[in-house]
Amino acid sequence: MENLATLAPPSSAAVTPLLTTRFLGRQFIYEQELVSTNRSALELAAAGCPAGLIVVAESQTGGRGRMTRSWFSPPGRNLYFSFVLRPSIAPAMVPQLALLAALSLRRALLEQGPTWPLKCKWPNDLWAEGRKISGILCEMNCRGMETSHVVVGIGVNVNISREELPPELRDSAGSLCQLAGRALPRAEILAAILNHFERDYEQWLADGGLASFLAEWRSASVLDDRAVKIEQSGRIYQGVARGITPEGFLRLEQSDGKIVTIHAGDVHVVR
Ligand code: BTN
Repeated sequence: MENLATLAPPSSAAVTPLLTTRFLGRQFIYEQELVSTNRSALELAAAGCPAGLIVVAESQTGGRGRMTRSWFSPPGRNLYFSFVLRPSIAPAMVPQLALLAALSLRRALLEQGPTWPLKCKWPNDLWAEGRKISGILCEMNCRGMETSHVVVGIGVNVNISREELPPELRDSAGSLCQLAGRALPRAEILAAILNHFERDYEQWLADGGLASFLAEWRSASVLDDRAVKIEQSGRIYQGVARGITPEGFLRLEQSDGKIVTIHAGDVHVVR
């Protein structure tokens, strides 16, 4: 495998020259260790930082995932970053940003490996060969009925080997280098993600929803037309996943043919 030491770390010096963005990533904080980049970005957003500011860490001591899970964040291998957005949208639209980010992320990663079998798993994961490669956590702050800021936090397993994963994650988590068979340039990957996301975000704002992305989601989704089981606050739904609505809800066809929309939950493919 290519020597990791020859690859630039995802610092401002390496990432900024590769950016084509107008605002995203133009203010850049890069730290060796943070508790959580989401936590830092939320603090900076509450203190009034501009939209587009990104916080990148080489490692996190308290990386957080959805549903109070943690995110394994050892140093020097992967990408852990969070950026601040200030969209003038209703808070109910914010969860769509995780789906949008999953699509941007997938497209950016396919630039490195056009044949990688990367798939989006509703609502906010990226999977390949049955293993999770990346997770997205959107957190927000509202003032009344208005969104004051959103933090989009993304973790991508880039150069972590199977042996470096804790045993309990070895069967469920994968990484890009395991797909590629070589070490990959984290700075280039981060720049590509930001470049793709900013374009998608502006399209999404102009459209006021995910309409322009539904066809792409259908071809990118690992769940569509598969039998799934969904756990949602103690309730279990079963059926066949049939795409998403323009609002980003999962369409589930139940055994009687009726389509219900699922707003949140953990999805498992049944077969
Ligand atoms: C999930 O799949 O549960 C979401 C995981 C999100 C992890 C990223 S790593 C960078 C950012 N900072 C955090 O504390 N979490 C997100």
